[in-house]
Amino acid sequence: MRKGIALVLTLILLLALTGCTGKQEPAGDNDSIVVGFSQLGAESSWRIANTASMEQAAKEYGYGLMMENANQKQEKQIDAIRSFIAYRVDVIVFSPIVEAEWDNVLTEAKQGGIPVILMDRMIETQDDSLYTAYIGADFYAEGRKAGEYLIRKADALGAEHMRVAEICGTTDSTPMRDRQRGFMDVIGKDERFTVIDSVDGDFLRSKGEECMRDLLNKYGVDGIDVIYSHNDSMTLGVLDVLEGTNDPAARDIILITVDGEKEAVEALKAGRINCVVQCTPHLGPAVMELVKELKAGKELKQKINHPEEGVFSDFDDLTDPVVEGF
Ligand code: AHR
Repeated sequence: MRKGIALVLTLILLLALTGCTGKQEPAGDNDSIVVGFSQLGAESSWRIANTASMEQAAKEYGYGLMMENANQKQEKQIDAIRSFIAYRVDVIVFSPIVEAEWDNVLTEAKQGGIPVILMDRMIETQDDSLYTAYIGADFYAEGRKAGEYLIRKADALGAEHMRVAEICGTTDSTPMRDRQRGFMDVIGKDERFTVIDSVDGDFLRSKGEECMRDLLNKYGVDGIDVIYSHNDSMTLGVLDVLEGTNDPAARDIILITVDGEKEAVEALKAGRINCVVQCTPHLGPAVMELVKELKAGKELKQKINHPEEGVFSDFDDLTDPVVEGF
């Protein structure tokens, strides 16, 4: 109910901004461009920074941003996209919570003549004409980087056998699938590594904590050598549990994580995390640039990987501010 009221108020505000009662074609400036943005949730610091980046960039480009947050529910994203189609926004941008089951609503957008930009995550479809462009990180490369770090670490330690537990992001989401695949492609054939478990932490700190507790109950501190966690929020939950055990052996567990949020970078510098693979949430300016090009009638490249990504680990000199964090 409150969401409905919020949407109505947003519509009134946008109507006031655009000074119209229906969709306007851009009149040579950006005032009339309205972007409908379906954000999937607020599950992590990454996501919160990503939302802020979108809001800030829309302001800088002078676009109206109609944003709906789906609280990690696919149905809510579908409802939001339908409301954007009904309002006849100029462009729909959305970050799909999972990859499957978007064809119906995207077909409606296509029939309504509204272009769709996928931001951050991909969809699974046989029909590539359902979206105009995708922009996001190369999650597969991130997974590979995590695996490469682990191999380097095992070499440095002279380890003969390492038991790895994986804490995954939201099941069937693009970063979950690709970070897992990239990691496994690197370590999978190396007999020193056994992946003893792979659990769903849904990209949430609370779930990361829960997963770590379950893993400790199942394997004990001495039964796990490495945690590969698909994001920092879950890793921080893992740290809360490990540091709460008061067992010095818990400090020896190697922690590999993805994102680069401030708290994780601090933990890396303090030696509490071993490796952070960077994934930038600052996609807003690049997305708005795509909107601009689209409205100028330019043809967009369909898949764009955001390039700014590094790896920071206990092999680096971490005294300098290597990465800013968010
Ligand atoms: O899709 C990007 C991932 O989603 C980020 O790594 C994670 O923190 C977020 O929730």
